[in-house]
Amino acid sequence: MKPLRVALLGCGTVGSEVVRLLREQAADLTARVGAPLELAGVAVRRPERAREHVDPGLLTTDAMSLVTRDDVDIVVEVIGGIEPARSLLLAAMKAGKSVVTANKALLAEDGETVFGAAREYGADLYYEAAVAGAIPLLRPLRESLVGDHVKRVIGIVNGTTNYILDQMDTFGASFTDALEEAQSLGYAEADPTADVEGFDAAAKAAILAQLAFHTPVSAADVHREGITEVTAADVAGAKAMNSVVKLLAICERVPDPDGSNGGRGVSVRVYPAMIPRSHPLASVREAYNAVFVEAQSAGSLMFYGAGAGGAPTASAVLGDLVAVARNRVGGTRGPVEVTYAELPVLPMGET
Ligand code: HSE
Repeated sequence: MKPLRVALLGCGTVGSEVVRLLREQAADLTARVGAPLELAGVAVRRPERAREHVDPGLLTTDAMSLVTRDDVDIVVEVIGGIEPARSLLLAAMKAGKSVVTANKALLAEDGETVFGAAREYGADLYYEAAVAGAIPLLRPLRESLVGDHVKRVIGIVNGTTNYILDQMDTFGASFTDALEEAQSLGYAEADPTADVEGFDAAAKAAILAQLAFHTPVSAADVHREGITEVTAADVAGAKAMNSVVKLLAICERVPDPDGSNGGRGVSVRVYPAMIPRSHPLASVREAYNAVFVEAQSAGSLMFYGAGAGGAPTASAVLGDLVAVARNRVGGTRGPVEVTYAELPVLPMGET
């Protein structure tokens, strides 16, 4: 069978793990796809930097030429951010490539353009790694639960802040000390703003809400509060009440106040909340993630696991890569984003 050729955009923690897995699991992946997966090229900013698993001959700084090359079938994007990722993915889909991306910021900020391009060009677009790392969460919302009526999605979707709050709860650490520790362990970036101010969780919440409620939700629609104002005294106070502080992402259907939309709206918000220690989310420790989904017929479902890190995120990327590769082999395509409802996104919810 003719190999499927993969262009990788970005070769940091996640990208280099994807390359390693593609090489080390080549035989298994070929058997699962029905065709070999071959790396056609890797776009990086600094090709002079040595990369353990990557053939230097595959490195290029010309990402646009790579994604539009005739011998490329699938584009995997793990560079993040809005540009140049958006232009590259749009060009790739226009050129008939299937796309796998882990880019939560892009999908939350300008999902309309990216999903619109996938529809226009009939391209496969998979993005499981964009939310909650290794946890299979988007595929269940997009496929398994698409026949159900999802009422609420609530969870811990940022590992860095959960680690910080857990350190504050367990050891009485200050926010600053816990953040320093999270940085030394590699959880938090040198600039931790996206995590501690809740931007990362808000982007993930927007993507979850889009899928759960079939309505466009962007990061700008999400009411957001980070954890920088949470003090050791707040956490100790919660502890005295047998509770714990967690940064929650809450996406739920709510009645709209004036009933102008048939009494339906959605609320999407991220903020530090005090929850009783008996609540299952209270037992999510360190940098783990967990998400509850409440659906009309399915009832309550809980998803739990590693929400960040090279290997867990690469697992989600590889899953998507195999899915789009199988679709190409079978001449089919995966689910198309259905945002049929235009529900108003309301500032605050009921819970
Ligand atoms: N900074 C993110 C987190 C990485 O801590 O969860 C995964 O998106």
